[in-house]
Amino acid sequence: MKVLLIGNGGREHALAWKLRQSPRISELYCAPGNGGISGEAECAPVDLKSLESIVRLAAQLKPDLTVVGPELPLQLGIVDEFTRHGWPVFGPTKAAAQLETSKSFAKEFMHRRRIPTSHYAICDSLGEFDHAIGRFSTPVVIKADGLAAGKGVVIAKTKDEAAATGAEMLSGKMLGEAGARVVIEECLKGDEISFLVLSDGERVAPLVAAQDHKRVGDGDTGPNTGGMGAYSTSQLLDQQMSNWLLQHVARPVIEGMKAEGMTYKGILYCGLMMTARGPMVLEFNCRFGDPETQPIMMRLESDLLEAIEASIEGRVSDGNFRWSQDASVCVVMASGGYPGTIEVGKKITGIEDADEVEGVKVFHAGTSVRDGAFYTSGGRVLGVTARAASLDNAADRAYEAASKIQFDGAHYRKDIGARALKK
Ligand code: AMP
Ligand code: GLY
Repeated sequence: MKVLLIGNGGREHALAWKLRQSPRISELYCAPGNGGISGEAECAPVDLKSLESIVRLAAQLKPDLTVVGPELPLQLGIVDEFTRHGWPVFGPTKAAAQLETSKSFAKEFMHRRRIPTSHYAICDSLGEFDHAIGRFSTPVVIKADGLAAGKGVVIAKTKDEAAATGAEMLSGKMLGEAGARVVIEECLKGDEISFLVLSDGERVAPLVAAQDHKRVGDGDTGPNTGGMGAYSTSQLLDQQMSNWLLQHVARPVIEGMKAEGMTYKGILYCGLMMTARGPMVLEFNCRFGDPETQPIMMRLESDLLEAIEASIEGRVSDGNFRWSQDASVCVVMASGGYPGTIEVGKKITGIEDADEVEGVKVFHAGTSVRDGAFYTSGGRVLGVTARAASLDNAADRAYEAASKIQFDGAHYRKDIGARALKK
């Protein structure tokens, strides 16, 4: 069959690499794709910000299935639009995707459905903000309501910093429309876990858990990013905790969304903080995580296509996935300046050598290809990902591979997975 994958990041490279292994896929397209994806799939140009452009491409290609990677097309209603045309598509509708696209929607939904999350206040004006902030102690978390590519969350250490952040977001200066509404949250402490489940609107099946590293610097220092690396091991979440999360988070979300007329199909990403008061939801994403998908796909032994079809056709069960007991680690190599202003167009060397390290696959995020050479084209450039029997061996392999890759300004964290190794 013919499959079209939408997106251009490291997540999409990992999905394309996995889908390519499906014996039932004869043609794989990725739109727009990137330099590395062009080795797994035929890349077709598309404007991810324009639903019209994606619809035009799909009308031309006539895929048997479309898999949507990033959140933006989901927010624009790609699933609703494709469904209207009768085209099979994987992911939630625009209404269901609000769990990610509006943090206030997600917070109010969790409150209604008694899903564990931090205390919060929703503010539409500076007056409301000034009034509400008094109820929180510092540090306090200030979030833009709308999509902000991982950059809409500020942990303010003082009330002054909180007030300045709130004012900047609400004025539209910081994030435009995304900040027109602001959510204030109690700051939670603990380990973060990304718990993803597959849903068909009624049933859920968990994927293996992963841990992202959001801050730019070693030891979780510096500003938040889209994610500087992730790892996945079977020790991250035991069976008992996984069952608890299914019962208290994942199933109540899927049942609640159905009961409220917004049936949720696709991947539901639950971002959790494991606090002393128990697990609490930090955020939902309505899609696979990036970079979590890279280590998660490295551990998937069964056919991803079968799982996606189970979601669309309403037959999700634990049998949709078979996982390796191995551990996996993804180290993101980023452009100089990321997550701030970056320079692109730098020549990348050493990818082939890195790919040759045992158990390693280099996933491309922001690369383009010209005359057989790769160049940087984004903030996160590569996700050097390794699999091995233990977490420390997987980390060693990933770092050995990363050391072989060079481009001007390249930087990466040296401690992906290190916190788990210390325990
Ligand atoms: P979000 O986009 O909501 O996941 O937030 C991005 C990151 O900010 C999370 O992965 C956490 O590291 C941090 N964060 C978000 N909400 C909170 C919170 N209530 N308490 C502490 N940290 C948070
Ligand atoms: N890794 C976090 C995200 O995908 O949003």
